Amino acid sequence: MQIHLKAPAKVNLFLRIVGKRADGYHDLFSLMQAISLYDEITLSVSEGDSISVTVSGNDEVPAGAGNICHKAALGVLTCADVKRSVEIGITKHIPVGGGLGGGSSNAATVIMALNEAIGGVLTPEELAGIALDCGSDVPFFLLRAPAIARGRGELLNPVVVPKYHYVLLNPGIAVSTAEVYGALGSFDLTKEAEDNILIRLGELKESSFCSKDSDVESLLVNDLEAVVFDKYRFIAELKESLIAEGAVGALMSGSGATVFGIFSDKAKAVKAAEILRAKLPEGTWVATADGL
Ligand code: C5P
Repeated sequence: MQIHLKAPAKVNLFLRIVGKRADGYHDLFSLMQAISLYDEITLSVSEGDSISVTVSGNDEVPAGAGNICHKAALGVLTCADVKRSVEIGITKHIPVGGGLGGGSSNAATVIMALNEAIGGVLTPEELAGIALDCGSDVPFFLLRAPAIARGRGELLNPVVVPKYHYVLLNPGIAVSTAEVYGALGSFDLTKEAEDNILIRLGELKESSFCSKDSDVESLLVNDLEAVVFDKYRFIAELKESLIAEGAVGALMSGSGATVFGIFSDKAKAVKAAEILRAKLPEGTWVATADGL
């Protein structure tokens, strides 16, 4: 039987880097929201002992054992100690290397669906462990609800966030997450600064967050922006173009290269996307999405 699944993208409404860890990763403090932009995944599980992954819609994404979904499926089967033939088909719509978590979301979707297909034998803790083995953003996609992420991204606290309307712009280049983190200088986000962000987040009501005079700009901070904008000035210009078209705030998502703008209503977001699609250089990917 073939199961059809949708794997959503995410944006980071803020992303602060708290420090560098002994294991080479960085500790984060981030607010993540899944959005209504999806890759499509088909999963077939039958008797046997093999895993196959095919990909359409993007030539840069590896098929077979090099795909993150292969690791996800193997992780589930190994942890559950079962053998199955697993066929995974991925149709990409989420830009790759775009800071929107597409690959991570694909992996989380396979982990959840394959566990279901083998009888739901794994515990939430086991699923979370397999997810983190696949990548730092994967545990978030098991949750899919807005959440504050700490640690590498696996310590998740669900929070209430309005279902914002987004316009997303990607310049058509893939940015390497490892390279961006590698180029980070030193930083010291204090506990006090963290507390201040949380207090502001608690204070922001849907109406105020979406108005020009709210301090939405002060919440939308991404410590990785400087590294990416330094190398690719035109990504900073894409961000500016969102503000020029009426976004109440704009930010780079994750390690880039996608930037998003928040709009107070869907019609304004759709209109801005139309204008930007006509105005921006060919090869710029423009999309609208809503928070989930
Ligand atoms: O975990 P993931 O494979 O997505 O991470 C890709 C790279 O991004 C890591 O190899 C690391 O260089 C960097 N990273 C980090 N700290 C994080 C997440 C990612 O340094 N919390």
